[in-house]
Amino acid sequence: MGIEQDPEIFNIIKQKYLNENRLYLVNSNFTKMDEILKEKFLLNKKLKFIVFDLGISMFHIKESSKGISFNKDSKLDMRINLDAKESAYDIINNYSKEELANLFYNLADETMSRQIANAIVNYRKIKKIETNQELVKIVQSVKKDRKKNPATKVFQALRIKVNNELENLQIVLEKSLNLIQKDGIVVVVSYHSGEDRIVKNFIKNNLSRLKPINKKPLLPDYQEIRSNQSARSAKLRAFVKI
Ligand SMILES: C[S@@+](CC[C@H](N)C(=O)[O-])C[C@H]1O[C@@H](n2cnc3c(N)ncnc32)[C@H](O)[C@@H]1O
Repeated sequence: MGIEQDPEIFNIIKQKYLNENRLYLVNSNFTKMDEILKEKFLLNKKLKFIVFDLGISMFHIKESSKGISFNKDSKLDMRINLDAKESAYDIINNYSKEELANLFYNLADETMSRQIANAIVNYRKIKKIETNQELVKIVQSVKKDRKKNPATKVFQALRIKVNNELENLQIVLEKSLNLIQKDGIVVVVSYHSGEDRIVKNFIKNNLSRLKPINKKPLLPDYQEIRSNQSARSAKLRAFVKI
């Protein structure tokens, strides 16, 4: 069974595996995996293996129309999660200066969060911020970075907030322990410190119910990063249900 929340990606996967009848694909949020399992199998079947590959994919960076990447000009939205209520547009145009600064700092460790929030609020006095390129320009007016786009962290924080990524991870880790059979394995691949902290603490706080497989997270080696750039920030943690 595979669960993918983004309808555009879901349709691509569905086409690709059209003739694969061993695979059951669902366009939903993985926080609903208990309901989905019950609906499909009727009885309370326990799972042997669960993999959570978190975050976004290359499709979101290169092709998605939702304004997740700063490389493409599109409307500020970022809602991948089908249940997401607030869009990036709502947040950027309505949150107070303090709320914006806290968001950038807490969800992406943005050290210039206050200056960026200030620039956003000043710009808003003249007009609403409609596109992701407008937002990139505002961030660039106060932050310089020669190695990567200065708006990288702002975009990351907004995407995490819009799609409730951290809350969803907490919910689904709890559910996974109820859905997995004894000796079953749960693997989580995370891509930023906020996610990894949640997985690490979940494991630490549930040692009476699970056994970690690796003490420290597994990281990609040099060869893997060379062949797959998007693996560079990945951390893998895994545990067995006891
Ligand atoms: C790192 S990408 C997977 C990349 C994939 N393994 C590949 O090689 O192309 C993570 C995927 O999980 C999806 N996703 C993230 N959070 C989700 C959630 N809460 N429920 C369902 N799908 C989710 C994203 O939309 C994205 O397509």
